[in-house]
Amino acid sequence: MPAASENVSAILQFDSSVSHGQDDAWFSTSGALEIDLGCGSGRFLLARAAAFPSVKLLGIDRMQKRIRKIDRMVTRMGIANIRLLHAEATEALRQFVPASSTSVLYVFFPDPWPKRRHHRRRVFSGEPVDAIHRILVPEGALHIATDHRDYFEFIVELFRTDSRFCAVPAIELPEEQKTDFELDFLNQGLPVWRCSFLKTGPRIDM
Ligand SMILES: C[S@@+](CC[C@H](N)C(=O)[O-])C[C@H]1O[C@@H](n2cnc3c(N)ncnc32)[C@H](O)[C@@H]1O
Repeated sequence: MPAASENVSAILQFDSSVSHGQDDAWFSTSGALEIDLGCGSGRFLLARAAAFPSVKLLGIDRMQKRIRKIDRMVTRMGIANIRLLHAEATEALRQFVPASSTSVLYVFFPDPWPKRRHHRRRVFSGEPVDAIHRILVPEGALHIATDHRDYFEFIVELFRTDSRFCAVPAIELPEEQKTDFELDFLNQGLPVWRCSFLKTGPRIDM
């Protein structure tokens, strides 16, 4: 895996007006690919990358400030197995990430947008299941955590009713890999809802 070193940015370039495949040589380097969608401060990404140096980790977030901040840490620490993408989740999954490339997709504490009229702003709105199915390898995993019970139930229903996925026991990450939002909710004694799914096979329409 090409090493990210001092002064070499880990940020991948994405032009959403161009279809995927332009600047993705990194995707074809060896190692399983894991994606943290809405990576926030990058706490999980950095801890995961350190624990699994042979895994490629891609952090995606629509807030450029957050991506740049993580990039400064990645370059300062010379972390080789992290890349970053400043993009909208849906565009990144549909247009940038190669098909059948991703072993694990993490979506931790996606903004719940609780008001009904804002639901279309959610990461899990529109047709996210198709985009997620496209990028996962066969038996690739999707791990989700949220503090918002209604949103959790909506997400579970979305994947439970899709025959291309099957529910599996949710993962519990070690303390050092918990995200800032998870630590914050747990410190406040608030519940955290988790679910995990595996990509099974193609949908068979009966
Ligand atoms: C509530 S924070 C959670 C951050 C982190 N996953 C954690 O658990 O600490 C949600 C993150 O997702 C990002 N985000 C929200 N909607 C997004 C979207 N449509 N596309 C990409 N990133 C998004 C936000 O900028 C923010 O960093």
